[in-house]
Amino acid sequence: MLVNKIKELKKEKDAVILAHNYQLPEVQEAADYLGDSLELAKLSKKLTNKVVICCGVMFMAETIKILSPEKKVLLPVLTAGCPLADQITPEQLIELKEKNPEAKVVSYVNSTAKIKALTDVCCTSANAVSVVKNFPAKKIIFVPDRNLGWWVKTNVPEKEIILWNGGCPVHEDFNIDEVFIAKKKYPKAKIMAHPECHKEILQQADFITSTSGMLRIAKQDDAKSYIIATEEGMIYRLKKENPDKEFYSLGINKICKDMKKITLENLYNSLKTENFPIDMPSGIVSAARLSLENMVQYV
Ligand code: 13P
Ligand code: SF4
Repeated sequence: MLVNKIKELKKEKDAVILAHNYQLPEVQEAADYLGDSLELAKLSKKLTNKVVICCGVMFMAETIKILSPEKKVLLPVLTAGCPLADQITPEQLIELKEKNPEAKVVSYVNSTAKIKALTDVCCTSANAVSVVKNFPAKKIIFVPDRNLGWWVKTNVPEKEIILWNGGCPVHEDFNIDEVFIAKKKYPKAKIMAHPECHKEILQQADFITSTSGMLRIAKQDDAKSYIIATEEGMIYRLKKENPDKEFYSLGINKICKDMKKITLENLYNSLKTENFPIDMPSGIVSAARLSLENMVQYV
């Protein structure tokens, strides 16, 4: 069986498998660790294995490599990207910085390594509010996600925040009608939304949080059912870890095609052939590391 072969190869190569919460169920089952972007980034720094296989998308693999340059970091499918990360170019960010020389740049970790290299501090959906609130700057340029940026702005009204107009095509696909229909169908369910959703959705949510934040809330909160506004892969882990509760995807299932490119087969091939190693120019790595090291200090 492929799962057993993966286990054997992992041992042989001193490899560890990290998977994001949106991965296919069988990939989640094969992983050593699951997490949101912040957890995976923090964890990768602590692990001592020679090889890290990132079951996620390119920005996650790049983040692991930047934080642990001594490790071999593999992404099983090179085209597993994040369309949100590509929505601002280095030239556009440089122009924004030149127009606002007094501002500090906070970049969502869903960004390219080149953007991170031009950034003062990165953040994820789990710590964006805390980063912007506590980073010593009155004026912030926040890129590239406008929805996460709106949520941060709402929670940190004391700072001037310039937003970039990017968005995740998966989360922006949720619409307010789906919320009203779901509320009618499941009147007792609480709504948990990822901050990449439109503000109209966020305004209706009981909880706005990262993917692992949803898991923590499901365990601690006393509601018995939840409507989930994020990528459909999240439902698998929520149900598995909370068998006594109900979880419903909001509206039509929203699928991130890039996250779903990783399969057990290509994970196995990745281990076997050690493909595809992530590498970046050393100048980019050292500049981007500063902004990521700044990020991991914040909860
Ligand atoms: P989390 O960091 O909340 O897991 O989100 C990552 C992501 O890509 C959401 O679309
Ligand atoms: Fe990127 Fe959106 Fe997919 Fe997350 S769900 S990886 S933000 S495209």
